[in-house]
Amino acid sequence: MDIIIAPSILAADFARLGEEIARVEAAGCELLHIDVMDGHFVPNLTIGPDVVKALRSVTGLPFDVHLMVENPEDHIKRFAAAGADYITVHAEATRHLHRLLEQIRACGGRAGAALNPATPWENLRHVAADLDLVLLMTVDPGFGGQSFIGAMLPKIAACAKWLHAENPACRLEVDGGINTATAPAALAAGADILVAGAAVFGQADPAAALRALQGLARRQL
Ligand code: DX5
Ligand code: ZN
Repeated sequence: MDIIIAPSILAADFARLGEEIARVEAAGCELLHIDVMDGHFVPNLTIGPDVVKALRSVTGLPFDVHLMVENPEDHIKRFAAAGADYITVHAEATRHLHRLLEQIRACGGRAGAALNPATPWENLRHVAADLDLVLLMTVDPGFGGQSFIGAMLPKIAACAKWLHAENPACRLEVDGGINTATAPAALAAGADILVAGAAVFGQADPAAALRALQGLARRQL
């Protein structure tokens, strides 16, 4: 499976989001990660469906929308209508993950399930067929610029092995603390989408930073 680097706009300049996205799009970005936080599931607040809709009109890039919100079932329709491609919900935020994944697909989205660092990957075992993406957090969600938790590497490897057997078309994404130093271990463990916020938009030249991570991913293949 091709490895994709997904820049997270959480680290971009929110006053110039359109320009920031255009820069990475011109540099060969393939997927844009959008972090939605509600101040409840995580302590931080970020953006909602209206911003996603506004961004939809300035770029053709696929949107990877990561919902870090309570009651995600109340918001799926609006994010799908706003132009989200992948819609990823936290397994910890719902009692009815299977129903929620079905709801995402019914709205035309690709269904993702995210897990916090302390949540076992085995919690997804019985919804394998309902997943287009698994997102393993490699930091506690809520903020950009945190350090990669190395103890997640065996979890990534075990989850990758399971997905390979049960649903090989499903993507395995890792999110948090990815940079040129931590990406090789995440890729070696079996991740095929790497989210990078600070390591792309936090750099003086985001386009060059994205290309450096993409080059590193190509060498891994
Ligand atoms: C954290 C978010 C991440 C964040 C990653 O809660 O889910 O997507 O943007 O940022 P970095 O790459 O800076 O750790
Ligand atoms: Zn994220």
